[in-house]
Amino acid sequence: MDRDTLFSQLAQIVGPEHVLTGAEVTTRATHFWDPSPLTAAAIVRPADTAQTAAVLKACHEAGQVVVTHGGVTGLVNGHISTSNDLVLSTERMNGIEAVDVTGRTVCVGAGAVLQNVQQAAEKAGLQLAIDLGARGSCTIGGNISTNAGGLSVLRYGMTREQVLGLEVVLADGTVLSSLNRMMKNNAGYDLKQLFIGSEGTLGVITRAVLRLRPATPAVATALLAFDHFEQVTRTLTHLSHSLNGTLDAFEVIWQPFYALNTNPEHEGSSQSPLPRDHTVYAIVESRGTDPDDIASNFELALGSALEDELMTDAVIVQSERERQNIWHIREHIDRALQHDPVFVYDISLPITDMQGYIDNVTAELQLRWPEVILYVYGHLADGNLHVLVAPPAAEGLDEQDKARWHEYSNQLIYQPLQSLGGSVSAEHGIGLSKKPYLALSRSAAEISLMQCLKHSLDPSGILNPGKVID
Ligand code: LAC
Ligand code: ZN
Repeated sequence: MDRDTLFSQLAQIVGPEHVLTGAEVTTRATHFWDPSPLTAAAIVRPADTAQTAAVLKACHEAGQVVVTHGGVTGLVNGHISTSNDLVLSTERMNGIEAVDVTGRTVCVGAGAVLQNVQQAAEKAGLQLAIDLGARGSCTIGGNISTNAGGLSVLRYGMTREQVLGLEVVLADGTVLSSLNRMMKNNAGYDLKQLFIGSEGTLGVITRAVLRLRPATPAVATALLAFDHFEQVTRTLTHLSHSLNGTLDAFEVIWQPFYALNTNPEHEGSSQSPLPRDHTVYAIVESRGTDPDDIASNFELALGSALEDELMTDAVIVQSERERQNIWHIREHIDRALQHDPVFVYDISLPITDMQGYIDNVTAELQLRWPEVILYVYGHLADGNLHVLVAPPAAEGLDEQDKARWHEYSNQLIYQPLQSLGGSVSAEHGIGLSKKPYLALSRSAAEISLMQCLKHSLDPSGILNPGKVID
């Protein structure tokens, strides 16, 4: 079948106004952070699962590659499409059904924006335990297909833990409707898990039943400063025990990133409530229902940690404005991304190995680039670090040179993770960017089973081909 015939079939399925071509494609950006024009043969926007199924059935018969797009905020090039590919956008499947308050669930379309789902849960006196910086743009379908992590994983687990049911369309158009609402359902294989974190390579998620949690409106936040890394790990252990399960965030920031984002000479910087030259900082947050309980337990726990010299300094936030200021230090990554080049990493490794790993990697990178800056921060309690490697800008560096530098940096960052039992991807996925390094974190048997699953579910390889595995 030629492409024109396929596209006219698609137009019949979704309506001609929902098959976008030409300028309607190129006026869209490639990515949230990359304004260059989107490359695709067309964009198709199905309204629901039935239309998605009909689209995939037609594409399957025509051998047409389909790359599914949600909010396009991913960080591993899982979204990349060529001029021959059809982009399937979930943007019209953004419905949010009524919250089931007693059962604590909500059923939403894959294209629903994370923040809108968070707000729907809040209105019902509950919360969705998925939160990340891209909340205003990323979609639930994207969160699920990448098994997104984020800011409260230490308490509630990753996105996988928040998904009770899924509706998925397989490559040939088969609808797999597993919209389970039960906490317990051991009736055979848990098929939804196949699609969570598979980055659009095994099926297209169209709807999801999400698990909601009791709201935790009472919040206590503090910024802590440390002079030795051992203080950080001991404080984490202390707070995990003494806060009785209400520890909601333990975000760690090493000095260079802290100092960058609190530099008074930079417009838009946060104010630093503490001296800017401590070795490591942490933002910790305790959440619950009763404000007095949360505040007093938090003060007691931090007070005893200070007495025991588990930390060097601490400030407890006194207002929502102060709280926002402190979170801005952590969430404001744009400043670091202005370095050119800068290489962004998302890795996991045992917490106790972190400082040694950072010291070794820094020393190795300095052998090549004595002036290199490493901005390190992350979700420490989850064993997850983000490392931004910024080699000094060099005159006349072209894209090829940058690619070579990137490759060199990748080797130094990823290689040591293998013997530490860490992962080349903690929460961002593999996409295209990390595919060459997958074997550092997965065995040959694991990769071979991934290939076997891909081949069984998508025998003609039309779903986001070339991503995650070959
Ligand atoms: C963060 C993203 C990069 O935590 O995962 O800032
Ligand atoms: Zn992160």
